[in-house]
Amino acid sequence: MSPGTIALIVVAVSVAAWGLFMANLTIRRQRKAAGGAETRESPAKGEGAAAMSTGTPAAAGAGGGQVTVEKVPEEKRKPLTPDQLAVSRRQFLNRAWTVSFLTFLGFFGMSSLSFLWPKLTGGFGTVINAGNYDDLLREIGPENNFQPKFVAEGRFWLTYYEGTGEAPVYLAVNAVDLKMQALYRKCVHLGCSVPHCGTSMLFECPCHGSKYRLNGEFYGGPAPRGLDRFPITLDGDSVMVDTGSVQEGPPRGVNTWEKFAEPQGPLCVPT
Ligand code: FES
Repeated sequence: MSPGTIALIVVAVSVAAWGLFMANLTIRRQRKAAGGAETRESPAKGEGAAAMSTGTPAAAGAGGGQVTVEKVPEEKRKPLTPDQLAVSRRQFLNRAWTVSFLTFLGFFGMSSLSFLWPKLTGGFGTVINAGNYDDLLREIGPENNFQPKFVAEGRFWLTYYEGTGEAPVYLAVNAVDLKMQALYRKCVHLGCSVPHCGTSMLFECPCHGSKYRLNGEFYGGPAPRGLDRFPITLDGDSVMVDTGSVQEGPPRGVNTWEKFAEPQGPLCVPT
């Protein structure tokens, strides 16, 4: 069961419990009020009671001080007056309004929660299956001129890597062992999406001109470091990219792969 479903159930149960509590409270108050009204009516209700009040003292004196209480028969009880009925109607309307309001609140709460709750069943922020390892290696490697592959679902560029791995982040993302990296396409300067330039083989940000090498390392512009990236693991033959675990890119000055240290052709975004 997903966290979103659990949250919806908790909200629904809370609202139902609150509704039952309020209904119970109202019923008890109503019963109490009806009981009070009956008690107030009792002395005037039965003629027997009136007779008892006049005749009892003498009888009590004669009978050794014992007082007997005569019950008012059911059929002699007066029905509720129109005023009392009017109060009941008002209470009914109050209760109906409360239930309607709580129902609305429950639905609104559930809709808001389901909207706000992150969907952890796929997409960015989850572990994404990027495809078959051998196929991907062919697609982004020397056989295809090192062209990176963009995976829209995870917002990352999958790139080939054959550098030395001399920076902690390469170990964290398994770049050397797997010969590939998943580079987050978000520019580390101010967050623009960074496209790949087929001629220079750099990632060149169109916003302020930051440039990153094929392995995501900083090459030029205002960016403070290299592109961030995601850890990659293998599940059988499948390449699994954990987009919920962003690893900070290497600092400026890091250069671990000479082959793509400099632009391979004209720039797409002039400096
Ligand atoms: S956002 Fe990319 S260089 Fe400014």
